[in-house]
Amino acid sequence: MAYENQFKKVAVLGAAGKMGSGILLLTAIEMAKIKFQQDDPENDFTLYAMDISDEGLKGVMKYIEKQVRKNGERNFEQVKGYYTGNDQEMAEEDLLEKYVSDVTKLIKPVTYLGSLMNVDTVFEAVSENIGLKVKLLAEIENYNPGRVWYLTNTSSIPIKELDEAAGLYGRIIGFHFYNPPAIQKLVEVIEPEDTVSGLKDFARQLIEHMGKIMVPANDIAGFIGNGHFIRDSLFGIKQVGKLSEEISFPLAVYMVNNITSRFLVRPMGIFQLIDYVGIDVVISIMNVMNNRIKEEKINSPLLDKLMELGAKGGQNPDGSQKNGFFLYDGGKISGVYDHESRSYKPISGLKEQAFMKLGSTPSYIPVWKEIIKDPEKGKKLEDYFVELSETDSPGANLAMEYGRNSKKIAEKLVSDKVALNDQDVNIILKRGFLHAYGPINNYFNKL
Ligand SMILES: NC(=O)c1ccc[n+]([C@@H]2O[C@H](COP(=O)([O-])OP(=O)(O)OC[C@H]3O[C@@H](n4cnc5c(N)ncnc54)[C@H](O)[C@@H]3O)[C@@H](O)[C@H]2O)c1
Repeated sequence: MAYENQFKKVAVLGAAGKMGSGILLLTAIEMAKIKFQQDDPENDFTLYAMDISDEGLKGVMKYIEKQVRKNGERNFEQVKGYYTGNDQEMAEEDLLEKYVSDVTKLIKPVTYLGSLMNVDTVFEAVSENIGLKVKLLAEIENYNPGRVWYLTNTSSIPIKELDEAAGLYGRIIGFHFYNPPAIQKLVEVIEPEDTVSGLKDFARQLIEHMGKIMVPANDIAGFIGNGHFIRDSLFGIKQVGKLSEEISFPLAVYMVNNITSRFLVRPMGIFQLIDYVGIDVVISIMNVMNNRIKEEKINSPLLDKLMELGAKGGQNPDGSQKNGFFLYDGGKISGVYDHESRSYKPISGLKEQAFMKLGSTPSYIPVWKEIIKDPEKGKKLEDYFVELSETDSPGANLAMEYGRNSKKIAEKLVSDKVALNDQDVNIILKRGFLHAYGPINNYFNKL
């Protein structure tokens, strides 16, 4: 019964954000399911959508309505089941509308933290800023001393630090959804030693109910996903530094991005991925890791400079990509930023030079979107990487070096005990970032 009780009054902090809006959708659907199952009019359920942005919250309610309708259409038999026993027979369309209205009615958009009196569970998804997160958690705790369970979506901040700074005594867990939360199956779960056992059980049940996959990570800054992504990014930035001693910066960025997408069969090149996450977000994650992992230098003057010049990446409220390393036109890369001239160089002028410099490639390069559905994926990838390792060209050599480094980063996450084992790193990286394969593999062994 504890699970259902924790769902009576729930709050999502940062509900208008990229992650918060998805978490709001998932929790609204789950809360509705519990409410329908209990079928007790006395049971009062409220889902607080909390954010400082009024405008953002209005947009989110529209998004929720649309997505709940889609969800209802996909799971119509289940929705029908919620209303069986009602006196009147309802037409399908009316039933769906009733479902959408019943689910959205559970949500109460609020911009004032003081509204969160008597909450049972809080999903925290505000910006990656430790001061902000601690302030909000401590304030809610002040209103509801000693009983709320907190699930934070932080990408990098050790959970124990949030716990101690906000005075939560083990009632907080790292519940790191991947973007977009409604679609991505992965949740990286971080439980510091003194996490209360009821919260651990709740998190497991929640994962099961939401149909997600749980991968545990230890409470070390960056955890598994960003522990790999940030170091992989730093390696790409280092390669650009080396290449741009001989060639222009935009050409070097274009080449490394091409190697890390096309040659390595990944969905995005490393600089497009940094743009997607947001250069500002990447810098804040780097700062969190750099301040806590003393034996490594985890910072990038290049990213700081791009940020200073206003090339920030991230997404617009409509989901379109903002310019960062690249200029985007209808979601496609059309230019590369040149920090010296402070302008974007069209890729039409770089492509040919880049392909000449990268040199020969294997005869067949798999495309990630096709290969992930291919029943012969394993064999095709293996053959491709053997051919890549035998291709002696600057592009192929750099791709092999990149793959070996990515594997080294992943193995170190296991030896540093951030991850329990190789498999956990591979699940996170494959599902969350790379899609076609995990970084710990035999593809890049050959020197
Ligand atoms: N974007 C990703 O790919 C991703 C993936 C996994 C985890 N995360 C983590 O999730 C969290 C949110 O990231 P995001 O990308 O959704 O950020 P975002 O900038 O899209 O959203 C943050 C939201 O927090 C709100 N906010 C700021 N101050 C607030 C306050 N005082 N009270 C209430 N709301 C406030 C903002 O208005 C905004 O709507 C971060 O901790 C981030 O590291 C992000």
